[in-house]
Amino acid sequence: MSMKKNDSIKVVKNSVVDMRVDAIVNAANSSLLGGGGVDGAIHRAAGPKLLEECRTLHGCNTGEAKITKAYNIKNASFIIHTVGPIYSGTSKDAFLLASCYKKSLDLAKENGCKSIAFPGISTGVYGYPLDEAAKVSYEAVSEWIDDHKDCKIEVYFCCFRDSEMAAYERVMG
Ligand code: AR6
Repeated sequence: MSMKKNDSIKVVKNSVVDMRVDAIVNAANSSLLGGGGVDGAIHRAAGPKLLEECRTLHGCNTGEAKITKAYNIKNASFIIHTVGPIYSGTSKDAFLLASCYKKSLDLAKENGCKSIAFPGISTGVYGYPLDEAAKVSYEAVSEWIDDHKDCKIEVYFCCFRDSEMAAYERVMG
């Protein structure tokens, strides 16, 4: 099932690992050395060379992003690792989550990517409520696209669970 919003933003039900795009985004932690959830799935699929490259990056702050090659994930060229906020219920959450999406798009643009697929950053073990996260991510990506009219990039919100898909449907109408 997929829902078309406009020319640039699409919501799909899929594992981000399986997306045929220039860059897939990883919901990493600040060590960048792997973990559970989507991070674990990406490292398993990409293979040990990904961890080797990640070790050279010396971590990543919350709200920031770093890029690597995709190694054994042949359907993508790059992996963009971003560190979402651990949900705290304060106004910092939305600022940091929006920053994850915008900085990931900056890196995609700098590396010539024409398509990018995001999982729901922070919406798993980091506890960000799905409806709030869908709103923040949709607004952040829409703003970035508006601010970069010279850059044609396809953006996919990859939903792993039906509940993630439902949250985007509520936010995007
Ligand atoms: N494709 C797309 N989305 C997925 C996939 C997948 N293959 N697998 C899970 N999700 P989480 P976080 C969804 O916990 O909350 C890791 O240990 C999942 O349903 O992976 O940002 C890191 O190392 C959820 O909605 O990331 C960090 O320590 C969303 O992805 C920490 O978890 C994010 O869930 C980061 O926590």
